[in-house]
Order: sequence, then C-alpha cells, then structure tokens
Amino acid sequence: MKEIKFEGKPYSALVFDTEEEIGRYAAEIVTKKLCEKPDMLLGLATGSTPVPLYRELVKACKEGKVSFKNVRTYNLDEYFPIDTKSPLSFLGFMRENLFDHIDLPDGAIHIPNGEAADADVEAARYEKELFAAGGVDIQVLGIGSDGHIGFNEPGDAYIYETHATDLTQQTIVDNSRFFNDISEVPTRAITMGIGAIMRAKQCLFIATGKNKAQAVKDALTASATPACQASILQFHPNTVFLLDQEAASLL
Ligand code: PGA
Repeated sequence: MKEIKFEGKPYSALVFDTEEEIGRYAAEIVTKKLCEKPDMLLGLATGSTPVPLYRELVKACKEGKVSFKNVRTYNLDEYFPIDTKSPLSFLGFMRENLFDHIDLPDGAIHIPNGEAADADVEAARYEKELFAAGGVDIQVLGIGSDGHIGFNEPGDAYIYETHATDLTQQTIVDNSRFFNDISEVPTRAITMGIGAIMRAKQCLFIATGKNKAQAVKDALTASATPACQASILQFHPNTVFLLDQEAASLL
C-alpha cells in the first residue's frame, strides 16, 4: 500500500494492488468500529466496488469476530420504481451480498422503498428517518464514472436532502451490465443527498478500476464542484480514500 498526498489539501489517498486488499483494509475499519460501538449506524452502498468489503464482513461475522445484532444500516439509494424482491433492486443486491449472510435483524435495514407510491414522498420520509438517526458512524461510498456519490448525479448544485433523481445516460450505461438489456435499467432513483453523506462521522470512499480514474482525479485534485459530486468530500473532515492502482492512475 502506498500513500498519495495532494499539495495544499488536508487529505491523502491510500493505493492498493488489489481490490481484495482494499476489502480487507476497509473491513478492518468497520470491524474495529463495531467492536467499540456494537450499536453503530452503518451507511452502505451497492455496486461492484464494495463487494470485497462485504465478503470480509460476512467472513468476520461467520467466524464470530463481529456481530451485527445491534447495528442499524442505512443504504445510500434505490432504483425507483423497482420490484424490491428482484435481485436487481438495491435491496435485493444487499440481501445477496451482505444481509442474508450476517446476523442483522430485518428491522434494522433502512433503504428508500422502490415500491412506494410517490418518489418525492418516499424521499421525504427517508430524509426524516436519516435525520432522526443522526449521522451514520461509517458511510461506505463508491463513485460513478460520472463522479456521482449515491445517485447524486453531476449538476450545477449539491442537493442536501434525500431526493428522487433521473439517472444520467452514463450511469444507465454503467449499470446496464447487471441487466439483460440497457432498456431494462431503471432511469430514476431515490438517493440520500449530500447532507446525510457529509453528516457521516467517517466516510470510507472506495474506487477501483480504470473507468473511475478520471472521476477520482476530478474528485480529489480539482476544486470542488457539483459537476463532480464526489469532490464535496474534500471538505469532509474524516474520509478515508481507498483506491486501486487503476483508479489512481491519473493522480
Ligand atoms: P460500481 O458503482 O461500484 O458498480 O462501479 C459505483 C457507483 O455507481 O457509485
């Protein structure tokens, strides 16, 4: 692992050879927090990026090293509308990759409801729930190739609250790999806003693969701009940036 420092910036990035190493490093941070605070609030992300971390957390739980019995989880986002029993929903993804393999009670799972009658009403409900919970202790974050975090898509403003959003064409193309055909990819989602992400006590930002290199460069080295939503993390006081060689290749 090597550390990259950025001139004039208060943060650095850790660069690893493999995504498995990132998974182990990130899991150590989460399991340490879990041991200190068994009722921690854990913010979670979907996508390929956090899968190695989730694999490590499942392993630690199966080995009896940690328990999620008293944890509450808060997912960043969910497609809208979506059949939440489908494995293509983010709830389905979380069940398959984490929830079904750990001792987390069902009632402790929080995620926007992709089957709600009205996306805006559901976004407001989720925002209220997040706000009442206070900041999560650790928020896991990936980054889109368009610089999004959660589904906070590039635009001319940071949206503070949970909101319904259209997905960019880039996101639809990126996510089409999970679907039979691009026409099946949902075009809308409900996402945690930038406010809840910035309220997290710690963010674990993970980026792997060459297709993230430009977004990572924009997020970490340029001035913060809503055109690259992840760049707001430059102002988060406690974000750990974990990259593989490819995602770090333009730094
Ligand atoms: P990915 O998605 O992990 O599947 O690349 C990351 C994201 O869109 O935030």
